[in-house]
Amino acid sequence: MAIIIDGKLTATKYNNALKDSINEMVQKGNRQPKLVVIQIGSNEASSLYIRNKKRACENVGILFEHKVFEESVSESNLLDEINKLNNDESVDGFLVQLPLPKNIDEDKIINAISPSKDADGFCPITLGNVVLNKSKIFPGTPKGIIRLLDEYKIDVTGKKVVVVGRSNIVGKPISIMLTNLSATVTVCHSKTVDLKSETCKADILIVAIGSAKFIKEDFVKDGAIIIDVGTNKVDGKFCGDVDFESVKEKVSAITPVPGGVGPMTVNSLLENVFTLYKEKVG
Ligand code: GUN
Repeated sequence: MAIIIDGKLTATKYNNALKDSINEMVQKGNRQPKLVVIQIGSNEASSLYIRNKKRACENVGILFEHKVFEESVSESNLLDEINKLNNDESVDGFLVQLPLPKNIDEDKIINAISPSKDADGFCPITLGNVVLNKSKIFPGTPKGIIRLLDEYKIDVTGKKVVVVGRSNIVGKPISIMLTNLSATVTVCHSKTVDLKSETCKADILIVAIGSAKFIKEDFVKDGAIIIDVGTNKVDGKFCGDVDFESVKEKVSAITPVPGGVGPMTVNSLLENVFTLYKEKVG
């Protein structure tokens, strides 16, 4: 029987610890930390994610501000807003919810975020520091995955990890972070020849491709550990990139969707905000 890796429980544990740390800072006379989230347009999934972030912030004592812009907002107006937030002493971190409308250059927007305010850990300087293994801020999902592995005492040293997906926010950073932790990492993607032969070699398989139930039982090795990053909606129900029901029979541990990686991503964001805050208030 596979262990079901409980991201909800783990996130609650670390959110509670963070709440205590924030409380302690406030008891000492410091202000509360503050996160600002910028949303452009009204993408339904983005609105849901932002509501979750707001609730999580409020639960731990992080002030939360949601700034919404019309879908038609110009790139220069957005860059002005980012510049303001970069210079606003009352804001510890901010993020621009992705995806962005087509007329806005995502790279330009992310580049404009100061590393000292980079709550998501997506800006090039932050990611450069992640590569160099000297960052205090990490992209939320990779940070959450590593915390989950650690919580379940899964040592990655020398393990063969296969990452499916090469996005800038999950696949690439998790592969680097796990390499820094001495795992042997293979990154697969849509052009990989014979994906199945690669995934079947994995001691730890991490899937972040956004394709519902794509990984079936014949893609996994007996006893492997499966981390499913996907959040897909099929017939009104959420499911991952892994076909949970068939795969769970074959593996030693697996994250469910929902309740696996998702809550950990939000916990990582909150921890990033607190790290940025402490750099300011000491
Ligand atoms: N869209 C989906 N996930 C994320 C995230 O973690 N941060 C941002 N900014 N946008 C997202």
